[in-house]
Amino acid sequence: MEPPKIHRRRPRYSGKNPRRFEEKYKEHDPARYPDTVQKVLESGKTPAGSHRPIMVAEILAILAPQPGEIAVDATLGHGGHTAEILPRLLPGGKLFALDVDPLELPRTEARLRAAGFTEDALVVQQTNFAGLPRVLAAHGLSGVDVVLADLGCSSMQFDNPARGFSFKLDGPLDLRMNPNKGRPASTLLATLDEAKLAQILVENSDEPHAARIAQSILHAQARQPIGTTRALTAAVRAAASGVDGETSVRRVFQALRIEVNEEFAALENFLRVLPGCLNPGGRVAILTFHSGEDRRVKKSFTAGLGAELFTNVADEVIRAGSEELRANPRSSSAKLRWAVRSGAK
Ligand SMILES: C[S@@+](CC[C@H](N)C(=O)[O-])C[C@H]1O[C@@H](n2cnc3c(N)ncnc32)[C@H](O)[C@@H]1O
Repeated sequence: MEPPKIHRRRPRYSGKNPRRFEEKYKEHDPARYPDTVQKVLESGKTPAGSHRPIMVAEILAILAPQPGEIAVDATLGHGGHTAEILPRLLPGGKLFALDVDPLELPRTEARLRAAGFTEDALVVQQTNFAGLPRVLAAHGLSGVDVVLADLGCSSMQFDNPARGFSFKLDGPLDLRMNPNKGRPASTLLATLDEAKLAQILVENSDEPHAARIAQSILHAQARQPIGTTRALTAAVRAAASGVDGETSVRRVFQALRIEVNEEFAALENFLRVLPGCLNPGGRVAILTFHSGEDRRVKKSFTAGLGAELFTNVADEVIRAGSEELRANPRSSSAKLRWAVRSGAK
């Protein structure tokens, strides 16, 4: 016998302007509701369930993808950069798109396939970019011509309360880009003492009130284990209100996210293997979103230039222009650096 069909109502709006991520069904379906999505974009916001690629023109100018070349988008996200780079590699070229996120990756792949990118031109793989040499070896490649990495997390991850990335939305304190791996931030918190937590806040996000905030978080944790974004936010505000409360909350979330996802280790490994993954003359561009990332990229590119692995590297970071800053406030913290691989491998 067929199981009875269950009719599920779409979640109703609680008011005129939907505030909850799940209620923004029009923004989640741009093909059906282009006008709504356009309005959201014009207001300088990112429609729910999507992500706006940052510094696209600058990245295309640096990477200069050519027909027949092979590229890697190490952080596929919503596929915005891939959708711009890949057509420029055709005919004859190919793009390998990587991402650790097993929830968003299939959605992005489906969108890109529906847009006409076939499997001979676009290879999508759920993996950490630190494993790039293994991905290339599995496809019989010794190097590629173009590499892009757009670090951090996507708007889809950030805006989905179920993933716990944002202090503005209540949800489980998870913060993992790959929820099938490692431990959520709530579990990590339960293992930390004050000194270690303060150290994480300083090292991962330069938090000036680290000691005070760590003490407040662990006092709250002792009263009741912190399992939600709201509980963590309250504990940080209790220590940092009146100083730079909101900024500190943002920095605490960033620091824990970096720790939970081991982001610095992944970036350092990626930077170490990168020159060996580029063909002579190959170009790499990396977008970073805070000083801990940018410091590592700058140091690695400078060392690569000294070791003659690169012929040229960015002298200065490139920032988003005023028009992009107005249209997409999330571009304000982005810093872009590039390098060009030398002739010898
Ligand atoms: C800022 S978003 C990329 C957005 C993308 N450029 C676009 O235009 O849609 C960063 C993405 O990188 C992924 N990511 C972060 N660290 C990663 C890692 N070590 N390996 C692979 N993917 C990673 C995240 O899951 C996220 O989807």
